[in-house]
Amino acid sequence: MRLSHFERLRPVCPRCLATRGTAVPLGLGVVEEATASSVRWGTLVCGDPGCAMEYPIIDGAPILVPDLRGWMAVNGPLLTARTDIPPTMEGVLGDALGPDSAFNVTRQHLSSYGWDHYGDLDRQPGGEAAAAGSVLRCLATALDALGGMAALPAGPVLDLGCAAGRTSFEVAERGDGLVLGLDLHWPLLALARRVLEQGEAVYPLRRSGIAYDRRRVEARFAAAERVDFWIGDALYPPFAPRGFALVTAMNVLDCVASPPALLRAIDGAVADGGGAVLATPFDWATQATPVEAWLGGHSQRGDDAGRCEAVLARLLTPGAHPQSVERLRVVVEPMDVPWTVRMHDRALMQYRTHLIMLRA
Ligand SMILES: C[S@@+](CC[C@H](N)C(=O)[O-])C[C@H]1O[C@@H](n2cnc3c(N)ncnc32)[C@H](O)[C@@H]1O
Repeated sequence: MRLSHFERLRPVCPRCLATRGTAVPLGLGVVEEATASSVRWGTLVCGDPGCAMEYPIIDGAPILVPDLRGWMAVNGPLLTARTDIPPTMEGVLGDALGPDSAFNVTRQHLSSYGWDHYGDLDRQPGGEAAAAGSVLRCLATALDALGGMAALPAGPVLDLGCAAGRTSFEVAERGDGLVLGLDLHWPLLALARRVLEQGEAVYPLRRSGIAYDRRRVEARFAAAERVDFWIGDALYPPFAPRGFALVTAMNVLDCVASPPALLRAIDGAVADGGGAVLATPFDWATQATPVEAWLGGHSQRGDDAGRCEAVLARLLTPGAHPQSVERLRVVVEPMDVPWTVRMHDRALMQYRTHLIMLRA
């Protein structure tokens, strides 16, 4: 955790935020391993003695989620998993564990997002560099449509659902403020942090079945000093309101339990005059979003006839829906742009993601 980010962003207790709606600042607790500019192992502690929740900082990433025990129950084994397995033995273990094991599901995620985020920098044969980088192209389209970073007020940027982190680096390169990437997925965030700390992206690239190549890609960004990656819930960004000049949420809306809650979280996080970029392919997943919460996409018999865009447009128009945002306004006509998720050598999922540019 970079101290620059901790001091400038002044994180608050996510538990107090989610349960009582109060923004209680977090203080540094234990500092077990640190440099002058960052803490690698330690804790952040809620300043309210009635809560006093202790959030671990692990390998430089603070874990700032409202339900720490719930997150730990799922991710604890990943935190303590070894990261030094040589490539051949990783394949042997993946074969033995089988295609549906958590190990191989995680490898698929790392493959898809590792490749799209850093594959364009992979100069070795088999890296499929030319097709990678689709999320960067989406982001560039949106930022250009907003008039570039210069059209936004000065201030930090929040990248919700940053996954392997490339959009956070990109937005840092385009501006001059601090950038924070937040995600709930430990292995993807660890990939992002490795790029931050070591200037290389290491990920398994799926060839077919459960056969993966290990890719090691040099990924150095001049603006990396201004970027940090934390574990956090996009529905409860652990910050006081209106602190960010720009909030991005690329392809996250259809992965959260409550899409209107994500929109309200973005609405609350953007500073007056600030911007927001939202992309979504409306590819609802039942394990993440209950069917009833899908925006219009679950019934052809309703007024919207299954059209997600219409419901989203109302949610983004103050007063047009009971759960509408309060401040954000759509400022450019939304666009459908290509976004690619690579499954394996012979399967690229080609989405048309719906791109929305907003100002507060
Ligand atoms: C479909 S991926 C998109 C990743 C990246 N933004 C991109 O477009 O390449 C969705 C990401 O959102 C993250 N995510 C899902 N729910 C989240 C939540 N409530 N808070 C933070 N991140 C979340 C997932 O872990 C995953 O990394």
